[in-house]
Amino acid sequence: MGYLSRLLLVLGLAIPMVLGQALPLKSSSRWILDANNQRVKLRCVNWAGHMETHIPEGLHRQSVEYIAGWIRRNNFNCVRLTYSTDHALDPARRVSDAFVAAGQAAGVSAAAMSGLYAAVVQHNPFVANATTRDVFGAVVDTLWANGVMTVLDNHVSRASWCCNLTDGNGWWDSGFGYNSWNSRFFNTQSWLAGLQAMAAWSQGHRGVVAMSLRNEIREFLLQGINRRADWYNYVKQAGDLVHATHPDVLVLVGGTQSTTDLTHVRSKMLDTSGWAGKHVWEMHAYSFTVTFPDPFTSCDAVQAEYGLFAGFVLEQGKPYTGPLVLSEFGVGMTGGSERGLVPKDSRYLACITAYMQNNDADWAVWAVQGSYYVRDGNVDADEGWGLLDHEWRDWRNQAFPGMLGSMWTVNQGP
Ligand SMILES: *[C@@H]1O[C@H](CO)[C@@H](O)[C@H](O)[C@H]1NC(C)=O
Ligand SMILES: *[C@@H]1O[C@H](CO)[C@@H](O)[C@H](O)[C@H]1NC(C)=O
Repeated sequence: MGYLSRLLLVLGLAIPMVLGQALPLKSSSRWILDANNQRVKLRCVNWAGHMETHIPEGLHRQSVEYIAGWIRRNNFNCVRLTYSTDHALDPARRVSDAFVAAGQAAGVSAAAMSGLYAAVVQHNPFVANATTRDVFGAVVDTLWANGVMTVLDNHVSRASWCCNLTDGNGWWDSGFGYNSWNSRFFNTQSWLAGLQAMAAWSQGHRGVVAMSLRNEIREFLLQGINRRADWYNYVKQAGDLVHATHPDVLVLVGGTQSTTDLTHVRSKMLDTSGWAGKHVWEMHAYSFTVTFPDPFTSCDAVQAEYGLFAGFVLEQGKPYTGPLVLSEFGVGMTGGSERGLVPKDSRYLACITAYMQNNDADWAVWAVQGSYYVRDGNVDADEGWGLLDHEWRDWRNQAFPGMLGSMWTVNQGP
C-alpha cells in the first residue's frame, strides 16, 4: 500500500479506488475494463468451496485473514471461488450441521468431522455461530478488504468433487439426450434458482465482480448432438437472469467439452444482448486437455489447438469477440526434477504460459488449496496441485510464480 493510501486509512476514509478496482467492471471488445475505462487483467487463483462441507476449503488450517493476506501479498488480484447449487439453495445451514451432513455424504466418520470442525473454529472463531453462507460472506469481504476481487463460480450441482462423465453434474437434465450418468444431479430449474440466489446475495458483497454460469459443461452420449441447442438455450436464460438480478457483475460463459470448446460460436453467436457490456468467455486447459497423441512434443500444434477451440474469441471485430479468462490451468507441484515439475507438466506449462503471454488474456490458476477437509473419503486430503503447502502456510513450490513470467503484467490494452 502506498503512502497516500496509508494516510487515507489513518484518516478513516474509504478508499475503494486505491485498494481495489474502480467498480463495476465491464467488457469492451476483448478487454475487461474498470469504471474508469482502464484495463483490468484478472490474475486469479481458484479457491474451492463446492465440496460436501459447503464452505471454502482450508479454514481448518488457517484463518480467512491469513489466506486472503497471502493471496494479496503474492500479487493475485482475484479469486475464482467455487460453490455448489446445493449450497446456493441452502444458505442458512449452520456450519456445525454442514460438517455432520458432509461426513455422511463423503463417507467419513462423525469423529473425524467433529475434529475438522473444531479445527475450523479454532482458526476462525466466528464460524462457531455461522451459517455456511456467512462463511462465504467472510471470505469474499476479507478478500475485498485486501483489494482482491471474487469471481463466483457455479462448479457443480451436488456438493462434491468435480468432474467426470458419470458424476451427474455435467449437462442439464431437461436437455436433449438425458442420461443419468451425466445429468442426474443437474436439475435445470435448481441451477437457475441457485444462480439467481447467489446473484441477489452478491449485491451485498462488493468484492463479487463476476459470476461464472457453470463450470465444465460437458456432453455425453446423445447430449449436444442437436448443434448444442441446449447450451444456447440454457446459457442465455442463465445470463439473462444473473444480469437482471445483479446488473453490475460480469457474466462468464464457458464452452462445452469441459470449458474447452467454443467452436460452435464461430458460426452462430450466443445471444448475449441480455448482458451487453458484461460478457466474458472462459477456457480451461490442462496437460490432459489437448487431444492429439502426446501433444507436448509440439507446442506449436498445441497452441494452434487452443486458438482453434477457444482462443479465437480474442480476435477483434467479430460477433463473438470478447475477453477470455483461462479460468483453470495448473500442474502438480511436487513432481520431479524440472523446478519441481514432472517433464510433461513442465512442457505443458511452458506452452500454455507462452500462449497466454502472447495474447495477454486473463487467467485463474488451479488452485490455492493445499489440502481439503475431505476428498475421496480421505480426511485432510493433500492437494499436490495446491499453490499452498498442506498447512496453507506458503508456496508448495517457490519456483512456480516465476514460471508464469509476464502473465502477471498488463502488456496490451485497448
Ligand atoms: C448466534 O446466532 C444467533 C442467531 O443468528 C443469535 O441469536 C445468537 O445471539 C448468536 N450467539 C452468539 C454467541 O453470537
Ligand atoms: C466420477 O465421479 C464420481 C463422483 O465423484 C465418482 O464416484 C466416480 O468414481 C468417478 N468415476 C471415475 C471413473 O473416476
